[in-house]
Amino acid sequence: MKLFQDKVAIVTGGASGIGAAIVRDLADEGATVIIADFDEDGAIRLADELGRDRAAPFGVDVSDPQAVEATVAFAVAQFGGLHLAVNNAGIGAPATKLADIAIDDWHRVLGVDLHSVFYGLKYEIPAIIASGGGAIVNMASILGAVGWAGSAAYVTAKHALLGMTKTAALDYADQNIRINAVGPGFVTTPALEKTMTDDERSGLAALHALGRLARPEEVAALTSFLLSDRASFMTGTYYPVDGGYLA
Ligand code: NAI
Repeated sequence: MKLFQDKVAIVTGGASGIGAAIVRDLADEGATVIIADFDEDGAIRLADELGRDRAAPFGVDVSDPQAVEATVAFAVAQFGGLHLAVNNAGIGAPATKLADIAIDDWHRVLGVDLHSVFYGLKYEIPAIIASGGGAIVNMASILGAVGWAGSAAYVTAKHALLGMTKTAALDYADQNIRINAVGPGFVTTPALEKTMTDDERSGLAALHALGRLARPEEVAALTSFLLSDRASFMTGTYYPVDGGYLA
């Protein structure tokens, strides 16, 4: 029996990077996965590759609460319920010292990296309760645990996400929903590859005790574990997967 047989899952930001690795893992373990992404073409490509019986693309801007509500409604209408969710979509921003961050940029980053997670939880939780329970993972970062010069909006969003995760877990612990956060170190994903020179990548790798960046699959492995019944006594906590960055 596969880990997620007959389960329905939503993965936001599922078309690329860490999200795509999570989509593949959940689908391999038997779940039907809604690939909820701003990049609808990317979501369609991945769903076609996995097979439309295992994955369905859904175009969404997670910073728009109505679009997030529509994603959950799609899962329930199309697949009969919702059991698992990964609030993973996120963006970075060009390095800027705090006082120089434009107000619009601040709100844009907080909208995609923090408010989106509230919208996700707000609509996913009632659907999961109605489906008999399940589990949620919110994608934080080691930058939810430590600061990073030039990234005040991102770091603020990832720190705040941990408080939201803990409180949501307490609010719904008695309704058979477990809610955790995962905190990756730096991961080799398109987001990072686009913006880094080789020297910068080596410098980042050296910050991790293991001396390299993470692979998306290594973040997906922890995420799947936390979503599965194997983690049945784990809720309301932040789990780093950081190659020893915080050690
Ligand atoms: P990525 O850029 O490879 O993938 C992000 C996906 O989210 C893309 O498919 C993009 O289209 C989608 N997305 C962006 N804005 C969206 C929006 N408004 N609505 C819906 N979808 C949207 O990025 P990556 O690296 O896979 O990041 C995924 C998550 O992991 C993010 O929350 C990020 O903060 C977090 N993370 C990434 C790390 C890294 O080193 N790459 C380290 C720690 C955390």
